[in-house]
Amino acid sequence: MPDLDTTQLLAALEPVAEENLNRHLQVAQDWMPHEYVPWSLGRDFAELGGEAWSADQSQLSQIARTALEVNLLTEDNLPSYHREIERAFGRDSAWGSWVNRWTAEEGRHAFCIRDYLLVTRGVDPDELERARMQTMETGYDSGDKPLLNVCAYVSFQELATRVSHRNTGKFTDEPIAEKLLTRVAKDENLHMIFYRNIIQGALELAPNQTMRAITDEVVDFQMPGAIIPGFGRKAVQMAMAGIYDLRIHHDDIVAPLLRQWGVWELEGLDSEGEKARDQLASAVAALDAEATRFVEKREERAAKVRARQEA
Ligand SMILES: [Fe+2]
Ligand SMILES: [Fe+2]
Repeated sequence: MPDLDTTQLLAALEPVAEENLNRHLQVAQDWMPHEYVPWSLGRDFAELGGEAWSADQSQLSQIARTALEVNLLTEDNLPSYHREIERAFGRDSAWGSWVNRWTAEEGRHAFCIRDYLLVTRGVDPDELERARMQTMETGYDSGDKPLLNVCAYVSFQELATRVSHRNTGKFTDEPIAEKLLTRVAKDENLHMIFYRNIIQGALELAPNQTMRAITDEVVDFQMPGAIIPGFGRKAVQMAMAGIYDLRIHHDDIVAPLLRQWGVWELEGLDSEGEKARDQLASAVAALDAEATRFVEKREERAAKVRARQEA
């Protein structure tokens, strides 16, 4: 069967989008971002006669600050993500309603995390603002990814951000930050379910084409925040702290979604579909092996640090 084009896919999957938009609207809980910010801790900065920011004002560890900053800057780039999702899904029907609803929900993520960080003096606000400008001026651009690739990518990405927010929250060791990030992570989970169900529908409609899209997105996966200044170094710090690493990426993001979609049991693929699934299996095995090596290295390093401290 030849691949379906975008118009055909959007039309054929529209009932799935509508059903899942309605399901989402039923299960999503309204929540008020201002309720998660300890406003009483806020005070003026230098320009208004208050005190300039300094690192000792923050009760967060340096790695917790880095993780919060990475998560916030990732959320800040929403205008770019909106552009991508609107380009892929359009403005009509349930697709268009989802684009706006999703954007509205995503919007509160950046501003409540920013409010929290500013009132608690959790990060250097000048550095944060400069990084936000740079991130947004770079923008996020998937290079006009086809619809199924967009849906596969965002399934993984929403789950990845859910886990990253959740683990960052735990890592802060600060109950208000943890509560806030747990709340944000719940939104990301519902977003993931929407996109996951679209891909589920697409696997029934166009299994070979969808298998190819899933494979391409697993092979090429990059976090949406990869364009943040200093992302490489910051991602390594987060991986060393166990907030987001290859083991988590394999065990908590890639493997569960593939299992949920039933990609390994899917029957009736043609030769192209089988080829895509074989490539997917190799990519997942390689990711697993790389994750194992990473964890071993991290443990070796931790053992060395312990030995040095005991010496
Ligand atoms: Fe978000
Ligand atoms: Fe999300």
